[in-house]
Amino acid sequence: MIRRFRPYIRYLQPHRGLLGLAILCGIIAGVASGAGLPLMIDRVFPVIFSGSATVLSGWQLAGVMLWIPSVFLLRGVAGYLNTYFIQLVGTRVLENIRLDFFRKLQVLPLSFFQKNSSGDLLSRGLADANQLQVTLTTVANEIIRSPATLIGAISVIIWKAYQIEGVALVLVTLAVVPLSVLPIRYIGKKLIKRAGQIQAELGGVTTIFSENLSATKEVRAFSLEDREVARFGRASQTLIRAQMKFLKYEKALTPLIEIVSAVGISFTLLYAYKVQLDQKTFTTLLLALYASYEPIKKLGSLNNELKRGLGALDRLEEILQAPVAIIDSADALPLARAHGALAFTDVSFAYATDEPVLQKISVLIPAGTVCALVGPSGAGKSTFANLVPRFFDPVSGRVTLDGHDIRAIRLADLRRNIAVVSQDPVLFNDTIYHNLLIARPEATRSEIEAAAGAAYAHEFILSFPGGYETLVGERGARLSGGQKQRLALARAFLRNAPILILDEATSALDSDSEAAIQLALKQLVVGKTVLIIAHRFSTIRDAKTIIVFDHGNIVATGPHPHLYATNPLYRSLYERQQGAT
Ligand SMILES: Nc1ncnc2c1ncn2[C@@H]1O[C@H](COP(=O)(O)OP(=O)(O)OP(=O)(O)O)[C@@H](O)[C@H]1O
Ligand SMILES: [Mg+2]
Repeated sequence: MIRRFRPYIRYLQPHRGLLGLAILCGIIAGVASGAGLPLMIDRVFPVIFSGSATVLSGWQLAGVMLWIPSVFLLRGVAGYLNTYFIQLVGTRVLENIRLDFFRKLQVLPLSFFQKNSSGDLLSRGLADANQLQVTLTTVANEIIRSPATLIGAISVIIWKAYQIEGVALVLVTLAVVPLSVLPIRYIGKKLIKRAGQIQAELGGVTTIFSENLSATKEVRAFSLEDREVARFGRASQTLIRAQMKFLKYEKALTPLIEIVSAVGISFTLLYAYKVQLDQKTFTTLLLALYASYEPIKKLGSLNNELKRGLGALDRLEEILQAPVAIIDSADALPLARAHGALAFTDVSFAYATDEPVLQKISVLIPAGTVCALVGPSGAGKSTFANLVPRFFDPVSGRVTLDGHDIRAIRLADLRRNIAVVSQDPVLFNDTIYHNLLIARPEATRSEIEAAAGAAYAHEFILSFPGGYETLVGERGARLSGGQKQRLALARAFLRNAPILILDEATSALDSDSEAAIQLALKQLVVGKTVLIIAHRFSTIRDAKTIIVFDHGNIVATGPHPHLYATNPLYRSLYERQQGAT
């Protein structure tokens, strides 16, 4: 089982100095309690309870009196430093586990996030990472500290017992130690199953929590308050049930070990009676025996801790080891500025294995062509456009840019050549200025203002009291849909990439600003390869080529007059639009 954790020992490695110090303190504390206390009885009691026969000098008395506080002082200080250093190492380890987890989330393919809920991922990145940290540090600490205590205590037992009655007594007093292993093993088996379950249920609760937070408006609009509370309550109860099952076994361990040790003590008593042991020796032995059960209990709960950690590790590894499908090949081509010639050859794509969304599509889009994608909802237009920046890779066939398969081009270079304005642009909870800057981090202030101006955003930005320094709220919540879209367009202006993908980029604009944006777009698209998905035919008509999608196939391509004359699907889509406006 410990072997499973071996790859993660590296999290401890950078802090091995501190960890070593912590363990040293742990050993001191361990020996102080394992051997120091029983020896105290051996040294202090005879002096105090010796009767009136001997009279102690002041110095002797002081030495005897200091024994107890010294043992506790040593034990206390070393124990404190041990805990403190372990916590210190722990927080740093946690930071690194969490960071690695987060780093991995950045490179996982988009399809991964459609299969895994964000709540569950949150819970893995926070709760499971936390659990793994606790396990790593606790185990690293106790695996040395507890045996040290045990060895200290057992040495006293052996030493004392050997002095008095020979080896037989040693064996009797130690007989129970191996027996304690039985409850540890039994409980460990019960726990392993339940540990993973707890973490999974915790993920379930977080999922409902985060989904609810992202649907605050829907909850109110559809009066789902009670349903949501009930749903959360149910998940919460399942979690508690799983936690209680774990606790039921976990907490049974200490009493079980104590009962076993009580049996050991009673046997020692019996033996003591038989050999007429004196009370002092017996008390020393008893205390040493008792001191040795403490580390056994610790090692037992260490076993439980490992089970817990294993549950968390399983869940973390599902993410940490998830394949990063979309990744640079070793000999990936660097690409400076692309011309922008795109070619799809026999491209098929499916989100789920059995449902093809694009079927053997082939199309050439020469550099610098404004190309409109039209077709009924669900026909595959967005999917088609998403293949260009490799948000997804085709199941078969290939997409080329300037003649190179895009899978052979360095991913970062490919994406730097593309500006995407999506159906639902997301802004970071930051200032407008910084939200624009992400499109081109080296842009100057005046370039940013020019881009905002071109996207007809400059004016509304200045109308805010904070201007460009206005905070936009989570996901841009403090802006209107049209304002968000104009900022997204401003990003595209700023990026000035040779390939431009506009997916319903102007759908949230009123006709005045749309008219203005159309003018701006005319500027933006010059010399660029543009894939534009729009439902308004005012946008589409001017495109040089129009690609008509239907059920995952391209059914026609050509300029507007040609398609209008020859393609019934295109004509009906067009006429329905004209009729509606
Ligand atoms: N993440 C996804 N997982 C599974 N299926 C998906 C996913 N995204 C889209 N689909 C399916 O793929 C098909 C094509 O979707 P796509 O988004 O490409 O359509 P579209 O032409 O852009 O439609 P619209 O005009 O409504 O935006 C649809 O049937 C849709 O249900
Ligand atoms: Mg779409």
